[in-house]
Amino acid sequence: NGKGIGYSYDTLQETANFLLSRTSVRPRIGIICGSGMGSYWKDGSLADHIEDPVRFKYEDIPNFPVSTVEGHTGQLVFGKLGDVPVMAMQGRFHYYEGYPLWKCCLPVRVMKLIGIKVLMATNAAGGLKSAYKVGDIMIVKDHINMMGFAGNNPLHGPNDERFGPRFPPMNRAYNYEYRKIAKEVAKELSIDNIVREGVYTCLGGPNFETVAELNMLKMVGVDAVGMSTVHEVITARHCDMHVFALSLITNECVVEYDHDAEANHEEVLDVGRMRQDILRKYVTKLVERFNKT
Ligand code: 6GU
Repeated sequence: NGKGIGYSYDTLQETANFLLSRTSVRPRIGIICGSGMGSYWKDGSLADHIEDPVRFKYEDIPNFPVSTVEGHTGQLVFGKLGDVPVMAMQGRFHYYEGYPLWKCCLPVRVMKLIGIKVLMATNAAGGLKSAYKVGDIMIVKDHINMMGFAGNNPLHGPNDERFGPRFPPMNRAYNYEYRKIAKEVAKELSIDNIVREGVYTCLGGPNFETVAELNMLKMVGVDAVGMSTVHEVITARHCDMHVFALSLITNECVVEYDHDAEANHEEVLDVGRMRQDILRKYVTKLVERFNKT
């Protein structure tokens, strides 16, 4: 827009048109596959199970940022999950990679322009709530925009009313109906013993948190902490997309000082691998149910 913040509507429309002219798939549901959902794996991830796939590497998509995290495939996949046409982001853009938040969320606006109505975001997160165990799947009920408290927000800068209002509401960010369906489907799949519901927050990363920081987050009501999703959800709600989000709890956040455990990236990926089949079945079924509403 010439002001150095954000891409213009026309630029994003160009990106959307590029994609629409190269696939006949017209999905209503867009999925962001985080590190809990196979964005790092060579194969076996959710995105690799999309049928009749049309794939676009991020570097081949006009105006798209390029993912820098080692091992991230970085591609959009259009195709079918079960019977349902979907578009999936295999690999997302993180703030810690150096992108401003609006750039991290650019794909969400592209989704909007290609006709996506429902954003399903997934991530890996550290579990703060004592009852959470490694491998649990948390339905995100709400978030706390910690980075927003410090003045960093994907909507910062001039507002384009074609996407949404200057001051968008954020209560009801995580769709009630979808959360209800997700709890029903968890029962049907007999995974309700590992499916939870809670509050997520995103910190900028890339370092994991200190004990004092984790204690603070726990005190203010955070159940799981990660490095993504919140700004994507804000961008999606701004342009009136419905939102559903899942966190895979990949490690317990240790809030004591006399403890040896350290959060690390390998553990995050291992737990993702351990849960990949369950998560894929869960998400596939959710997509089928969401598509009927
Ligand atoms: Cl403990 N913290 C953050 N910020 N992100 C994570 C995590 C912890 N575990 C997985 N992702």
